[in-house]
Amino acid sequence: MRRKMVAGNWKMHGSLVENKRLLDAVIAGLDGLNEARFVVCAPYPYLSSIQNALQSTNIAWGAQNVSQFEKGAYTGEVSTTMLKDFGCRYVIVGHSERRALFGENNFIVAEKYLAAQRAGITPILCVGETLEQREAEITEQVIEEQLAAVIELTGVESLSQSVIAYEPVWAIGTGKTALPQQAQDVHAFIRSGIAKKNAAIAKELVILYGGSVKANNAADLFAMPDIDGGLIGGASLVASEFVSICRAAHH
Ligand code: PGA
Repeated sequence: MRRKMVAGNWKMHGSLVENKRLLDAVIAGLDGLNEARFVVCAPYPYLSSIQNALQSTNIAWGAQNVSQFEKGAYTGEVSTTMLKDFGCRYVIVGHSERRALFGENNFIVAEKYLAAQRAGITPILCVGETLEQREAEITEQVIEEQLAAVIELTGVESLSQSVIAYEPVWAIGTGKTALPQQAQDVHAFIRSGIAKKNAAIAKELVILYGGSVKANNAADLFAMPDIDGGLIGGASLVASEFVSICRAAHH
């Protein structure tokens, strides 16, 4: 049985003071909820303080990006080993902002995914189409290519140690959420495509939806049969919103 999951993606937000206030409220709000998995993905400099804050709670933590390289002369990069030093169990790879703003293509994303898995960190692999691609009716093709790059490099079995997040680019940070059925259709497409390669893995694969998930739409999205939770940007910065979304996954 798949377990629901909610992951917060703080993006480039926060400060030591703000993070403490946010996490104190989130920790209190989620206390005792053990059916769903909760994760916070924070900027690198805060991982140490986040590890301290979350280590004896029911909330796991991770990063929003990682280098595909193990170590060496890669100025400004952060390795999987470094993330492990701070107890990260998850890392987001291939977020559309990384793809669009920092030139990460499908192959680079696949390499990052592989690097994370080799280190024993669960990659949260983001896929999704832009508005132009949706309007051109190539959503499925785009997602298939994004997934194929990973499967070619790592094999379909690797998906058993990963989480996928479907994030339509047009819904991220725009307040325009995909309708539950719209998201469900893509989730079902992803799951059935993987089922053709390995049915058991497809059945257990956790597929999150991301893109303007809020407290007032989370329950409807999470009620869909192939939506196993959410990857939450803006609303993960507001304790009451994030806690409500996590509670929606818990029920
Ligand atoms: P949003 O971001 O919830 O602010 O739309 C989601 C994401 O980028 O993961």
